[in-house]
Amino acid sequence: MQDIRRVGVVGSGLMGSGIVEVVARAGLAVTFVEGDDALVAAGRDRVRASLERAVARGKLGAGDGDAALGRIEGVTDVGALAEADLVIEAATEDPAAKGAIFARLGAETRPEVILASNTSSIPIATLGAASGRPSHVVGMHFFNPVPVMTLVELTPGPATSEATYELARSFARDVLGKTTVRSSDEAGFIVNRLLIPYLYDAIRLYERGFATREDIDAAIHLGLGHPMGPLALADLIGLDTVLSIGEVLRGAFGGERYEAPAMLRDLVAAGRLGRKTGGGFYDA
Ligand SMILES: NC(=O)c1ccc[n+]([C@@H]2O[C@H](COP(=O)([O-])OP(=O)(O)OC[C@H]3O[C@@H](n4cnc5c(N)ncnc54)[C@H](O)[C@@H]3O)[C@@H](O)[C@H]2O)c1
Repeated sequence: MQDIRRVGVVGSGLMGSGIVEVVARAGLAVTFVEGDDALVAAGRDRVRASLERAVARGKLGAGDGDAALGRIEGVTDVGALAEADLVIEAATEDPAAKGAIFARLGAETRPEVILASNTSSIPIATLGAASGRPSHVVGMHFFNPVPVMTLVELTPGPATSEATYELARSFARDVLGKTTVRSSDEAGFIVNRLLIPYLYDAIRLYERGFATREDIDAAIHLGLGHPMGPLALADLIGLDTVLSIGEVLRGAFGGERYEAPAMLRDLVAAGRLGRKTGGGFYDA
């Protein structure tokens, strides 16, 4: 495998901070980029808190937690990724914003560097085109919480080289210890193509008073053995992220299936984005 010593991560929210953490725990140096100094500090705090939880649960030695934190650097300028050997983008799920980020990454990083995206739904072909080097762009979709969830869904775009795909696969598998699956490059890939219609149906049932939120979630949790029900899961993912993914799917495939329920739009408009803001369908 190509020598990867320093990884760049764009965004340090729910997912970016988790990706920063697992890369640092694997012994590599990480530079993450955020919008401003306060967001850099918030990202670092998220990583620190998660490392402390891992130490408290006995999953990580105290010294290892400190050492991982010492390998992490937060910056506000994508230009600082000039030294990165691999970049993983995990910024807000907004097609226009991600397009602009990939254009910058294409210009600021070395031409041989692979640019991966943690996008949940945006076709890799789009991001590849924006970067100016589509052969080096690949979808690398982690799951929340990143240190715990073992799957990485990989998506090559139509122009992605097999060498790029293989590097992403061996990095996920051999460096981070994840299991990978390969998806075709259509909006939503495998997981969100199946997940979003399910979440939307659950929200519609709740919206029309078919059952309480607790009963909908208990039915799926206990009846199907899922770790949590759909409304709790939507709160965990972030309602703004659920809506953004749904909008990408609606744009790609149309139809009622991907029409966002009014209740979801209302909660997002009210700033109730789920656990990350203190509440969504449930008060956190
Ligand atoms: N939430 C989930 O469960 C989940 C799971 C898998 C993948 N994803 C994907 O991961 C990505 C991030 O989602 P999230 O849940 O972490 O969202 P989030 O809102 O928690 O974090 C997004 C972060 O990106 C930062 N950001 C936005 N524009 C930026 C820019 N130009 N440069 C640097 N930072 C920027 C924001 O300040 C924010 O901190 C999205 O593409 C999402 O679809 C989310």
